[in-house]
Amino acid sequence: MIFSDRDEAPIALDMHPDWAAKLGAAAGNLELEIGSGHGGYALAFGARHPDRALVAVEQRRKFAADLDGKARGRKLSNLVVLMGDARILAPRIFPEGSLAAIHVHFPDPWWKRKHERRRLVDDGMSTLLLRLLRPGGLLDFRTDVERYARDAVERLEEAGFENALGAGRFAERDADEIPSTREKRYLATGQPVWRLRMTRPRESR
Ligand SMILES: C[S@@+](CC[C@H](N)C(=O)[O-])C[C@H]1O[C@@H](n2cnc3c(N)ncnc32)[C@H](O)[C@@H]1O
Repeated sequence: MIFSDRDEAPIALDMHPDWAAKLGAAAGNLELEIGSGHGGYALAFGARHPDRALVAVEQRRKFAADLDGKARGRKLSNLVVLMGDARILAPRIFPEGSLAAIHVHFPDPWWKRKHERRRLVDDGMSTLLLRLLRPGGLLDFRTDVERYARDAVERLEEAGFENALGAGRFAERDADEIPSTREKRYLATGQPVWRLRMTRPRESR
């Protein structure tokens, strides 16, 4: 089941949707959030950036439905909520090189060593994220799990991402950065968060 926003016509997922027809000028700055959860980031983004558009993909039906309801209630025409597995949906709905930014905030950690391979940011996903971004496009990755952060930074650099801070380095929080729902808790308690702000190199094709 797919939740789209204001249109009567559902988004066709067997081809790249016409984002410009759906979102107008904001489609020129199209961003993806993977695993939006309760939607704190997506809702604040929609309200703060009317000139940009965000597609939030969440695999849990209830979370996606609730977020879609809130986006409609707040008339956020630049926020599209889709229910599904981003690993499958993203390459179907976005052409390569089309995204200005991708946000991955606090992906499930899969704590046990034997489950680590279930993590969202594996080698295949790192390559896919790089390809979906336009040259210069930003990957905004945040986690509270240091082991995940260190594994991700290595994989992402290996896949071809550029880290302006230097190899293996993490970013500080920007004062005006929008926190995700989970992150608000950590900001209140002071629990550490590892942040990556990596880009697709400008000269890449
Ligand atoms: C730990 S929660 C974090 C939610 C939110 N990003 C935040 O920071 O508050 C991780 C979310 O990612 C979703 N998720 C995990 N894998 C996913 C995938 N492959 N595609 C879409 N959503 C996914 C989960 O259902 C869950 O809602």
